[in-house]
Amino acid sequence: MNRPRTKNKLAFFFVATAVVVLAIYLLARFDYALRELLRAQMGGLAPQADTIVGVLRLIFLAILAYLVVRALNALIFGLVFRFRRGFEAPTLVRNVFSIVAFTALVFLIFTSIFPKVNLGALFTTSAIFGVILGLALQDTLGNFFAGISLQADRPFQVGDVITVGAQRHTGVVEEITWRAIKIRSFSNHVVLISNSTAAKEPIEVGPRNNLNARHVFFNTIFTDSPAKTIHVVREAVREADNVSQKISPVVRIRNLGESSVEYEVKYWLDDYAKHNDTDALVRQRIWYAFRRANLNFAYPTRTLLVQRKPRIDEREGDGGAIVERLAAVDIFAPLSTEETTMLAQAATSHVFAPGETVIHAGDPGSSMFVVHNGRVSVQVSENGRTRTVATLSEGAFFGEMALFTGEPRTANIVALEETEVLEIGHDAMKRVFDTNPDLVESLSHTIGERRQALAASEDLSATDGDESAGILSSIKRFFGLK
Ligand code: CMP
Repeated sequence: MNRPRTKNKLAFFFVATAVVVLAIYLLARFDYALRELLRAQMGGLAPQADTIVGVLRLIFLAILAYLVVRALNALIFGLVFRFRRGFEAPTLVRNVFSIVAFTALVFLIFTSIFPKVNLGALFTTSAIFGVILGLALQDTLGNFFAGISLQADRPFQVGDVITVGAQRHTGVVEEITWRAIKIRSFSNHVVLISNSTAAKEPIEVGPRNNLNARHVFFNTIFTDSPAKTIHVVREAVREADNVSQKISPVVRIRNLGESSVEYEVKYWLDDYAKHNDTDALVRQRIWYAFRRANLNFAYPTRTLLVQRKPRIDEREGDGGAIVERLAAVDIFAPLSTEETTMLAQAATSHVFAPGETVIHAGDPGSSMFVVHNGRVSVQVSENGRTRTVATLSEGAFFGEMALFTGEPRTANIVALEETEVLEIGHDAMKRVFDTNPDLVESLSHTIGERRQALAASEDLSATDGDESAGILSSIKRFFGLK
């Protein structure tokens, strides 16, 4: 409260008191004369003159009582409370004091002026009125009593920072009134929380004279030393304004995250009401300290390991075994080591489970296969029944008939056990034929024999040498060979 206002108030108080005292004095001085005057004037209502004078006296004395109560209030709460206890008395307490003191004084004045009127009876006979009033003031009374219990508990006082309820209304307590707690949020809004709501909700209190803590978080890259980081940050935070010197800030690793070392700083504030500014200052100090100490903030990173699928001849462990496998296939026997290695590089490996079909009869096909591990059976269908024509094991090849002639697959190939096959395509074979034209001949023999076996199983006429020659020329045509 500023001085001119206090002066005005004091002046008003003294003038008002003087006027009222004068009025009371005059009323007492001219009491008899006034009554006589009233009686003469009121005719039939003359007996009421005493009551009118009594009421006038009651009014003036009540005004005086009000002024006395205000003076006492200012004296007790304005001076004694503030200077002795060090904080401002809550408005609610001041109001309760004023009302109780005023009611008691008016009661005393009333009974002294009208000793015959029984005030107690007046109150008890108005029970119904009381009930109606009670119902109408239910909420107000709820707030009032909740306010009183808050005052009695004193969980917080003016100047403390509180956070109320699930909606987390946060701000500095400015006033606790009959109806509500008034807080000033950090956006400088006034938030009113009714006392009865506050009594039901959890309230987080950051008392003014308490060392309240705050947490600030930051991340570094994994290569920055934790010991150095902790030391640098602690020193930087310690020196920031409003960070309490009484307790040293705590800097610790919160988590070894996916792409950073995650730290938290816990520090204590002198004035909790300024915690947002102080958090910001602490972050700023950390940034500069990092810069000077060559530390690095982390940001989300992900290391991608790009892995090229190894070529078949580079396969760890059995790359050489594949080259060896192909070299052992009879039709590839004439190839040089380089040619076999080239073929191995071009080959792709596939693994089939027992019972899985590697080739379906009738499908088009542009590659041949070598059995690397396991066994397959060559099957044909006859009148709806399956018949095995041959079983091929490691080192045997199949699929050459469709590849070299361009005709559809002649049989089903089914894995008998877990089987790994090496698939060789048209282009790789063409490169081999270009440098080894003799291969075509030996292949045409194999194909001829296999065709014979198939034809025999189907009870067809056996192929002769002429057909073998036909196969040879069709392979040459298909592969564009001379
Ligand atoms: P292709 O016709 O491309 O597909 C089915 C394969 O089964 C065929 O090539 C031959 O490689 C193989 N095949 C067909 N008949 C026999 C047989 N009698 N003996 C071994 N393998 C055969």
